Formats: sequence, C-alpha cells, structure tokens
Amino acid sequence: MTEIITIANFKGGVSKTTTTVMFSYILNERQNKKVLCVDFDPQSNATEILNKTYPKPIRKAKTSFINGLKNMNLVPAISKLSENLDLLGADWDLSLFPEVADNFSKNKQYLILQALINKIKNQYDYILIDTPPTLSVFTNNAILASDYVVMVMQSQQQSFTSSIKFVSYLQQLRKDYSGKFDLLGIIPCLMKTTGTVDKEVLDEAKQTLGNAMLVNILYNRERVKRFGRSGIKNEDIWDSRTIYMYEMVLKELLRRIEERNK
Ligand SMILES: Nc1ncnc2c1ncn2[C@@H]1O[C@H](COP(=O)(O)OP(=O)(O)OP(=O)(O)O)[C@@H](O)[C@H]1O
Ligand SMILES: [Mg+2]
Repeated sequence: MTEIITIANFKGGVSKTTTTVMFSYILNERQNKKVLCVDFDPQSNATEILNKTYPKPIRKAKTSFINGLKNMNLVPAISKLSENLDLLGADWDLSLFPEVADNFSKNKQYLILQALINKIKNQYDYILIDTPPTLSVFTNNAILASDYVVMVMQSQQQSFTSSIKFVSYLQQLRKDYSGKFDLLGIIPCLMKTTGTVDKEVLDEAKQTLGNAMLVNILYNRERVKRFGRSGIKNEDIWDSRTIYMYEMVLKELLRRIEERNK
C-alpha cells in the first residue's frame, strides 16, 4: 500500500522543505522503502537539496514538472536519484501551474495532482509532497492528493496561531471536497534547547491541539543548515545525530499510520 503524505503549513520558512527532504532520505537510505519526493514548490528548494545529495542520478527527467502537468503524464518528469528514491523535481516554470489549473472546471482544479499521482502511486511505498508557503492551488492540490497531512510548527506565537488557523482550513477543505486525507500530526520544530518562550508556546500548543502534537521534536541544529548548502551527508557523528533526530520524528509518524491502518 502506498502512503501519500503532504508536509504543509501556510507559514513560510518553518522547515517544510527540510523535513520533506530528510524524511525522503531516511525512508530511502535507512528503511529501504521505495519513495517518490514531489517538489510542488516553484522555489524548488527540495530539488536543490536532493540534487546535491545525489549528484549522480541513475536517470534524469526528460521533461519538466510543468510539462508533465500540462500533458497529464508525470512519468517523463521523474528523475531516478538512487535505486529507491525518485524525484519529481521543480523549477521556476512550475509557477505557471495556476494557469494550467485554470483550464479545469472549478470543482476539478484542486484534483489535478491527485488524478496524476493515482496513475503512478503503485510503484511506491511512500510519496512525500513539499508545498509552498501559501494557501494556493498548489497546497490544495497536494493536500487533496494525500492520505495524510503533516504540519510543521515552529515554537513561536505567530506560528502557533497560524497553525490553529491551518487546522480549521484543513477541516473546511476536507468538507468541501470530500477529502480522504487525515491530519497525521504536528511536528514541533526549530526548538531552541534553552528557549523559555519556545517551551511556553509548545505547552500551549499541546493544550490546544492535544494528541495532534508529536512527542518528538525537531531542534535547531547548525548541521541542518549545512545539509541545505551541501546536501545531506552521513560522514561524522554530527551528521548521524542530525539524521537520528529526524528519524525519531518519522518513526512516530509511521507508528501513527500503522495504528490508523489497523
Ligand atoms: N532543524 C533545523 N535546524 C536549523 N535550521 C533549520 C532546521 N530546519 C530548517 N532549517 C533552516 O531554516 C530555513 C528554512 O527551512 P525550509 O526551507 O525547510 O523551510 P520551508 O518551510 O520549506 O520554507 P518556505 O516556506 O520558504 O518553503 C533553511 O535555511 C533551513 O536550512
Ligand atoms: Mg520550502
């Protein structure tokens, strides 16, 4: 069975891309799963990091993501980065997607990605989708194509309040489009180990959002920024500790999926 997961939040710079890329890497490298990472953001940050991580792909895409969307066939737009990891990579042209979506009727334009991913999903154990920091035709398509939405939430007051708004937005979207997706969990992110305000915000979030909040936390680590510059590496103790931190969060999410599938 394929699990399709969108990592989202309409707040910018909260670590959506980093989390998507780290999860894709870990599922591939450490859990031996067949993974497709979908970079559904014209900023193409996930594509950049994964291309640095896997500089010698097995097979490059023949066409761009936007052409795949226009031709209603994503297969030629997929790169094979390693035996088990594929990438549907973005570039700036993907910003034309709203124009492509405009050609569809109102009730179909948020279901384009779902239709296309349904054609290819059987090849994968996991499909992870990165989204831009907006409530847009991108995010709506990604969410409605997914089984699960994972939110990343920074431990700042504004991030907390916009996360609450995002939860009600998801409920509305599910209702309006009879969505099948579930909110799998909210990852507390970029916590400074010593920040007292961070802890207060996190406590308040746990009270308000309850079980949706994950127990495992993503801390602020210099090494994560390095991965953004040079690609993900596993060469020293700091690399492996950083990967381990993401692996703990990922495993908590996978346990939640297992429980829901019971
Ligand atoms: N755990 C972390 N520790 C330190 N820095 C981090 C961590 N996670 C992400 N960052 C850094 O924070 C910045 C924003 O992260 P990222 O690009 O993943 O956010 P985003 O939510 O995808 O942003 P956007 O909304 O622009 O798409 C990047 O420079 C990234 O390297
Ligand atoms: Mg991003």
